[in-house]
Formats: sequence, structure tokens, C-alpha cells
Amino acid sequence: MTTSRAQITKAVIPAAGLGTRFLPATKATPKEMLPVVDKPAIQYVVEEAVTAGLSDVLMVTGRNKRPLEDHFDRNYELEQVLRDKGDATKLSRVEESSDLATMHYVRQGNPRGLGHAVLCAAPHVGEQPFAVLLGDDLIDPRDPLLTRMTQVREQHGGSVIALMEVDPDNIHLYGCAAAEATGEDDVVKVSDLVEKPSAAEAPSNLAIIGRYVLDPAVFEVLRKTEPGRGGEIQLTDALQTLAAEPSLGGPVHGVVFRGRRYDTGDRGDYLRAIVRLACEREDLGPDFRAWLRSFVTEEM
Ligand code: G1P
Repeated sequence: MTTSRAQITKAVIPAAGLGTRFLPATKATPKEMLPVVDKPAIQYVVEEAVTAGLSDVLMVTGRNKRPLEDHFDRNYELEQVLRDKGDATKLSRVEESSDLATMHYVRQGNPRGLGHAVLCAAPHVGEQPFAVLLGDDLIDPRDPLLTRMTQVREQHGGSVIALMEVDPDNIHLYGCAAAEATGEDDVVKVSDLVEKPSAAEAPSNLAIIGRYVLDPAVFEVLRKTEPGRGGEIQLTDALQTLAAEPSLGGPVHGVVFRGRRYDTGDRGDYLRAIVRLACEREDLGPDFRAWLRSFVTEEM
């Protein structure tokens, strides 16, 4: 069992998915680059990692994902044009994404599932605990989740996953956890995990949302994890092994998140996320809310 309570500094963001739900928008553009108001979805995720103190970010990418690397890199030509124009506001917005974090990239090659994507991070991560953030889930910056998860890892060791209660009709879209209460209201001890169970098979309505703080022992388990649901190597299955056999590098705890989460992986939820975030923006919100109110009352 790994007993390291080392500070967590590395974040891994799997971003090799094809984004077929958004075709044709994602034919030549990575789904992670789709704008949520005026920032690509992936930038919110990197900002979340940085806010939690994780300034070393590894993206696990694949073919057609070059725009991700460009987005987090300098664009000297554009910066110069904005400097010449004296447009300091836009210049700082352009510079923001390249100054955010130390970015690293590894390509997944042959995508064989989320577990396989995480395994691609092993040489970069080494023997330290690390976080995994899935790009389809946006967590509202006002409801810090990752920081709470790192605290729980410091307290209990092992791995920590983010859980959220969902409508039982939707549990088949998620990994699902059976869990026992602990002394703390928002922390549970995970006893069982199932990837995308039917409503009838699901042990609870606690869904895994895409945030994980993982013990490096997960790599050894992933190497031995057989393909599971969808013929893919599932991170949920590796975590199930750790939960069942804590001597391998467990235990597994869950932080039950009750804050605001936006799903940008589904078209309807993506639209809802944009409307909500636009309404809350100080610059765009007042005008947009007024328009939305009249749109709903007069045109719907
Ligand atoms: C992945 C995980 C699943 C988790 C979900 C959260 O599934 O495999 O356990 O609940 O992310 O968004 P995906 O949505 O990538 O199919």
C-alpha cells in the first residue's frame, strides 16, 4: 500500500475522445475546443485544476487534437497585433490561457477506454498521487470540489472519487458507487463500483462525476484490468478492485458533491450550461437575461 501523503501537483485530463455527439462541429475541431460562452470548455477544466493547486497538467490526446496544444501555447503574432492596437483587455485574455499551467501532452494512440487513457499518464505521473479531470464535466468555480477531494486524500490516503446523486433513470450513464457513511456528511467509504449499470442493477443513485484523486497504485491495477463495459478498459473497474482489496493501494472514498455541475458532453446539457453561465456573467448577463426573459414570455 502506498502511504505517501505527498502534495498533489499533477492533473491528468483525458482528451482523446472523438466527440461524435457533436458532429459535424467536431469533424475538424476537438470537442474540448467548443466554446462555453467565450472560452473553450477545456479551459474551464484547466483553470479548475490550477485553482486546486495543480499547476502541472498532462493532456492525453489523440489524432486531430493539435488545436488543444495551440490554445495553451503562446500566439506571438496575435499578441503583437493586439499590442500594436493597444487592446490590453483582449491581449490579457489571449495570454491568460498560455500562462495558466505547465502543459504536457501524450498521445493515446489506440484509444481503449478511460482506464487506458489514465495508464498513458503513468510515465509522467510516477509514484505520486494525482488528479484526473474529465473534460465533459464542468464544476462551477464557486463550489470547489477538487480541493475538498485532496483534503480527503490527505486524511484517508488511497483514492478519492467525486460522487453526485442523480435520478435513478440516468444512472446507466455513469459509474455507480455503493458506499457507507463516514463521520463526515460529504464523505463516504466506497465498497462497490459498477460502470454504467441499468437502473435495476445499480447499487445506489450515487454517480461518479468526472473528478478523481488517485493513488499511483491504480496504474498497477489498470495494467491488469481486463476490458469491461463497451470492450474498454474502465477506470471504474480498476477502482472497484482497489475498493475491494485496499491492501493494493486503497481505500476508496467518495466526496458527495452538492454544488453546481454542468455537463458539456451532451448537446442539450451543453446548451443549458452556456445559457446558465452567460446569465451569470457580469459583462454579458444583464443584457442576456433581459433578452431571455422576453424570448421565453413572447416567443415560447
Ligand atoms: C466516464 C466514466 C464514468 C463516469 C463518467 C462521468 O464515462 O467511465 O464512470 O461516471 O465518465 O462523466 P463517459 O461519460 O466518458 O462515458
